[in-house]
Amino acid sequence: MSGLKVVVIGGTGLIGSKVVTNLNELGHQAVPASPQSGVDTLTGAGLADAFAGAQVVVDVSNSPSFADDDVMNFFTTSTTNLLDAERAAGVSHHVALSVVGADGVPDSGYMRAKAAQEKLIKESGMPYSIVRATQFYEFVTRIADSATDGDVVRLPHARMQPIAAEDVATAVTRAAAEPPLGGATEIAGPEAIAMDDFIRTGLAAYGDSRVVVTDPQAPYFGAVIDDRSIVPLGSYTMFETRFADWLSANVPTAAR
Ligand SMILES: NC(=O)c1ccc[n+]([C@@H]2O[C@H](COP(=O)([O-])OP(=O)(O)OC[C@H]3O[C@@H](n4cnc5c(N)ncnc54)[C@H](OP(=O)(O)O)[C@@H]3O)[C@@H](O)[C@H]2O)c1
Repeated sequence: MSGLKVVVIGGTGLIGSKVVTNLNELGHQAVPASPQSGVDTLTGAGLADAFAGAQVVVDVSNSPSFADDDVMNFFTTSTTNLLDAERAAGVSHHVALSVVGADGVPDSGYMRAKAAQEKLIKESGMPYSIVRATQFYEFVTRIADSATDGDVVRLPHARMQPIAAEDVATAVTRAAAEPPLGGATEIAGPEAIAMDDFIRTGLAAYGDSRVVVTDPQAPYFGAVIDDRSIVPLGSYTMFETRFADWLSANVPTAAR
C-alpha cells in the first residue's frame, strides 16, 4: 500500500520522528501529532482534526512520568481517547508500540500500564497491529538512572535482548504500511546480554563513572525480573544492529 495518510501520535519522539521520516520516504503522508502540534491524547484536543481523512493511526507516544499511577492513567486515558476518535473519523488501522513481556511483569507499574494499553486495543473492535519491542539501546542511561544510588547502580544479571531505536522504527513503519495483523508481533536485537553487563558497557562508552553492582534482587522499574521476564519467549523478528556497532556510531568516545 502507498499514499496512506498516517497520523503518528508521539511523532516528535525518539521512535515517532523516525517513523514519520520512513513513512514519507515510502510515499505515504505521515503527520506527526503531539502536544507540540496541539494534539493531546489525555484531553482529546486536536484528535478529530488530525484524524480527518486518515487511514492509519500509529501510537508511539510515551508518558512524561513513569510513576505507577501517572503511567497507568496516561496509557489508559490516551488509548481510550485515541480509539474513540479513530472510530468517529473512520480510521481503519490502529498501530501501537508496546514492550516484550508487558503482560509478564505485573510488579512493574510501567509494564502493567502497557498491558492495560494492549488490552484496550485488543478489546476495542478496531483493526489493529501491536509491535512489541525489547529495550532500546538509547534507553541505557535511563535504566541506569532508575537504579542509581549515589555512584552505584544496582541491577540484576537478568537476560535482555535490546534493540536499536532505528530498527524499532523500521518495524513500526512496516506495520503501519501493511494491513492490520489483528495481533501482536515481537521484535528484538541480535544479541542476548545480561542487564548489568548491558548497562556497564553502555556507561563505560559514555565515560560515565558510576559503578554497576550485580544484585539479583535489585528491581527493574519496580519489579524483580529473571531471565525470561523481558525477552521474547516465542517467535520473533530479529533485527541486525549490534550494540557495539550502535555505540561506535552513536557515542563518539566509544569508537576510539
Ligand atoms: N524505551 C524502551 O526501551 C521501550 C521499549 C519498548 C517499547 N517502548 C515504547 O516505545 C514508545 C515510544 O517511546 P519513545 O522513547 O520514542 O518516546 P519519547 O521519545 O519519550 O516520545 C514520547 C512522545 O509522546 C508524546 N506525548 C507525550 N504526551 C503526550 C500527549 N498527552 N498526547 C500526545 N502525545 C504525547 C511526546 O510529545 P512532545 O514531544 O510534544 O512532548 C513525544 O512525541 C512508548 O510507548 C514505549 O512504551 C519503549
